Amino acid sequence: MAMIKKIGVLTGGGDCPGLNAVIRAVAKTAFGRGIEVVGIKDGYDGLVLGQYEMLTESDASNILTRGGTILGTSNKADPFRYAFIKSDGTLGIEDRSQDALKNIREIGLDALIIIGGDGTLSIAQKLLEIGVPVVGVPKTIDNDLEATDLTFGFDSALSVATEAVDRLHSTAESHHRVMVLEVMGRYAGWIALRSGIAGGGDVILIPEIPYDIGKVCAAIKKRIDKGKKFSIIVVAEGAKPAGGDMVVQQTIAGSPDPIRLGGIAQVITRQIEMCSGIESRATVLGHLQRGGIPTAFDRWLATRFGFGAIELLTEGKIGRMVCLRGQNIESVEIKKAVTQLRRVDPHGTEVKAARSVGTNFGDV
Ligand code: F6P
Repeated sequence: MAMIKKIGVLTGGGDCPGLNAVIRAVAKTAFGRGIEVVGIKDGYDGLVLGQYEMLTESDASNILTRGGTILGTSNKADPFRYAFIKSDGTLGIEDRSQDALKNIREIGLDALIIIGGDGTLSIAQKLLEIGVPVVGVPKTIDNDLEATDLTFGFDSALSVATEAVDRLHSTAESHHRVMVLEVMGRYAGWIALRSGIAGGGDVILIPEIPYDIGKVCAAIKKRIDKGKKFSIIVVAEGAKPAGGDMVVQQTIAGSPDPIRLGGIAQVITRQIEMCSGIESRATVLGHLQRGGIPTAFDRWLATRFGFGAIELLTEGKIGRMVCLRGQNIESVEIKKAVTQLRRVDPHGTEVKAARSVGTNFGDV
């Protein structure tokens, strides 16, 4: 591959703590090697519409601890299926990948570093297939990519969720209530499982273990019989009853990310009140899990990923994504990384450990 002189960096999908730490590491490492860095604005929107800025040393300074992304992001834009409003007000979809290609040529980019989750990286793979040299960096608070042991952002989300479980304990105990906490995670239960374990949740409901509300209720009543007048339920937004469906808040036409989950905490809270007679309250943690400063771990991982992405580029390892394996930064093909989601093993040792300390998963 020809020498790399100018690269683009883009953040796509939902934001997450640590994105700026990656951008900083990418930019500082690139500058140190004489490579110019262009920040593409608002994810793939900026690529299609030609919105970008040259990053300077000062852009890459003082952003290590900052939440969000200085570049902006979008989970709606896909150059291959670009949504637009037609003159009659209805939604249209068109292929704008050639506009993206034209902009990449006009800016003079030798390669693109794309930071995103499975949706953003699937589009990166398509760009690769039409000739764009790309390298990927995995990002998501959901931690649902099989190709990497961990994604940055997850640890920060987990610490927010665990603090919420801790805080709900004292109010639940004072009022003798059942408190139901809904956390994010999409189709994977990692945030619920680990915050539930770390915070001592009495019931944890995750998509990988369909629940029976009767069994959840029995677990709450059993606690009361033991003299425990309050309970904490941690529920993943994607949890569903056996034989039932997830609670979908909204479906968005034309979006690469069309299903918005949410609302299960309210459903469970009502059901618990009805079956147990115990006053219950729902808390939806929502985007608090994605906002704010990254934890030390996420800053550490994001910095190593940013450096690793430049290493991949300079070694000519195009089409690959950095990943964490044990303590080492390695790489995998983007096309393999986006096809395998990592979900909780219902029979694995994490779930077994939780069960052994008395946590109920709504299945027994
Ligand atoms: O994938 C990250 C995530 O935060 C999910 O956990 C959640 O379901 C979704 O994004 C929320 O997306 P939005 O910001 O579009 O509401």
